[in-house]
Amino acid sequence: MKTIDSVQSEKRLFPPSERFVSQSLLDAEGLRALREEASADPDGFWLKQSQLLHWQTPPTEGLDQSQHPFVTWFKDGELNLTESCLDRHLSTARRNKAALIWEGEPGDQRVLTYFELHREVCRAAAALLRLGIKTGDRVVIYMPMIPELVIAVLACARIGATHSVIFGGFSSEAIRDRISDAGATAVLTADGGYRRGKVVPLKHNVDEALKHCPEVRHVIVVSRTGQDISMHPGRDHFWADLVRAEHGLCDAVAVPSEHPLFILYTSGTTGKPKGVVHSTGGYATHVAFTTKYVFDLRDEDTYFCTADVGWITGHSYIVYGPLIHGATVVMYEGAPDAPHKGRFWEIIDKWGVTIFYTAPTAIRAFMRWGDSHPRSHRLSSLRLLGTVGEPINPAAWLWYHEHIGHGRCPIVDTWWQTETGGIMVSPLPGATVTKPGSCTQPLPGIAVETVHKDGSRCGRSEGGYLVVTRPWPGQLRTVWGDPERYRKTYFGDIQIDGRPVYFTGDGARFDEDGYLWVMGRVDDVLNVAGHRIGTAEVESALVGHPHVAEAAVVGRPDDLKGQAIVAFVTLRSGHSQTPETASLLKEHVVHDIGAIARPDEIRFTEALPKTRSGKIMRRLLREIATTGKAVGDVTTLEDMAVLQRLSSANSDEE
Ligand code: PRX
Repeated sequence: MKTIDSVQSEKRLFPPSERFVSQSLLDAEGLRALREEASADPDGFWLKQSQLLHWQTPPTEGLDQSQHPFVTWFKDGELNLTESCLDRHLSTARRNKAALIWEGEPGDQRVLTYFELHREVCRAAAALLRLGIKTGDRVVIYMPMIPELVIAVLACARIGATHSVIFGGFSSEAIRDRISDAGATAVLTADGGYRRGKVVPLKHNVDEALKHCPEVRHVIVVSRTGQDISMHPGRDHFWADLVRAEHGLCDAVAVPSEHPLFILYTSGTTGKPKGVVHSTGGYATHVAFTTKYVFDLRDEDTYFCTADVGWITGHSYIVYGPLIHGATVVMYEGAPDAPHKGRFWEIIDKWGVTIFYTAPTAIRAFMRWGDSHPRSHRLSSLRLLGTVGEPINPAAWLWYHEHIGHGRCPIVDTWWQTETGGIMVSPLPGATVTKPGSCTQPLPGIAVETVHKDGSRCGRSEGGYLVVTRPWPGQLRTVWGDPERYRKTYFGDIQIDGRPVYFTGDGARFDEDGYLWVMGRVDDVLNVAGHRIGTAEVESALVGHPHVAEAAVVGRPDDLKGQAIVAFVTLRSGHSQTPETASLLKEHVVHDIGAIARPDEIRFTEALPKTRSGKIMRRLLREIATTGKAVGDVTTLEDMAVLQRLSSANSDEE
């Protein structure tokens, strides 16, 4: 609620400049017309947008929701998405245009034209086929941010294999769980990757994971760092050896629109990550539409998104969306402060980037690092800025506007989720008057509302649950291997007029002007530096340690990361509450999940506050983690003395 109060105090409005409007794809009038068209006939509207793709058999049907919540879009259409991303550009002036401009963290660089990217994708796809990998197989990709990551993703799509990219920061345990859940038979990886000058041992992590994954028959390894690795004979191949043998021709396998393009694992409210399944035609239509209008994308743009391809933002807005439109994509391997804190600005300056898309947590870090870094680079090529991942506080929005956009660039604050596939709520840069901190209005064709738990609609300015009331093309289709979890997680909570609607897990309100303000998650999912982390995942890692009896994890507001992870831990008898134990437990979480889930603080306590029915009262823990004491209603607490003990709980943080 605190964030809501603070954003409310920001009343300034930012209309796009006349200059921007005059050159943009859509002005306010155009947007009004598009909204009207979409609301008059949503099916027809999306069918029309599906023409942004190249189809081998164009669809004639839009949405089929007869099996709701299991829906389909364009189900009689057939396509291979790589033809939209690559082949069709080859017969145009884009043939020798840069598709990918890549910079490695150490300063090396590669530029791949559309022609070259197509050839590399075909060679990799042919190599996969030669190994016996085929349409419908699942392929895990665990790579640093190098061109081969994009090539690998597209090579899978070329042959109709479903890719599952695992972020390079995950541990071998996390890889093992995801490979097993997806039933993957091949893993594409690299020897290692660079992160702030250090080498991340990717192949080693894969080797550890595969000790428990006998179903994986092939591992393909890109040489990135040249470090020593072990190669398992018969199973492991070097990427270069495989693709060298291929000639660069590989037919694009046409798949039905509903064919699963990829599985992407994300955190939920239980300890087990969910495999979010995305379709091909519906997903790509949504992504193509949003890339075009939200980023106002033109042929002459050079587009830089700082996300990792291991997350949904990278899938939709580094790989598929921009390539569908034949854009030039800038991709950077490393950390924003490696080797210096102006690295992003240097990249923008060097390549003449026009569109820049990043996360609020990064913007807050830039603010902290000081204005001198952006000031020492030329940012005059920029014309549009975007943010994603968490609510942006107005101070960060204004800093971004002033110090990066120089007051000239509209900012698109894009709200969406792994599950939505593409952007759902966002300004359209030539059409929307923005308010710092608000992601403004749902896009045409997207039906988003705020409701009470009983499904009744919230009034203006009244906070409630954010729901999507009509299926959209980029909607996840299921949870891999667990359709019931899909139904229960997303459609089990809220009904409107007796009909289940998609619940986002977020709380939000529309203000008096119909602008949306997202308050953050209302479930037990944290948003730490733009990454979703389920409290249950961290808890299950903690209780997996032999010293731990019980653990409860909550979020505490954090200036830089949005939320910090605070773990309340009760130890088994005989173990002491020392800083050493706290560090041991933190490392244990890193080992189990990855560094992104490392608790910021561990508080030892003799007992956790519970209701009479034994449920941990997280709300109290959140209050204690944030303010030092519990201030809310404690009437359902079973043992009042616990509170006293908790407030004085032993923290490892000063
Ligand atoms: O809480 C919302 C927040 O991030 C969640 C989705 O996380 P994930 O699936 O990891 O996808 C992140 C990238 C799309 C949402 O439920 N979120 C994302 N974008 C915004 C946001 N909160 C406020 N404003 C945003 N622009």
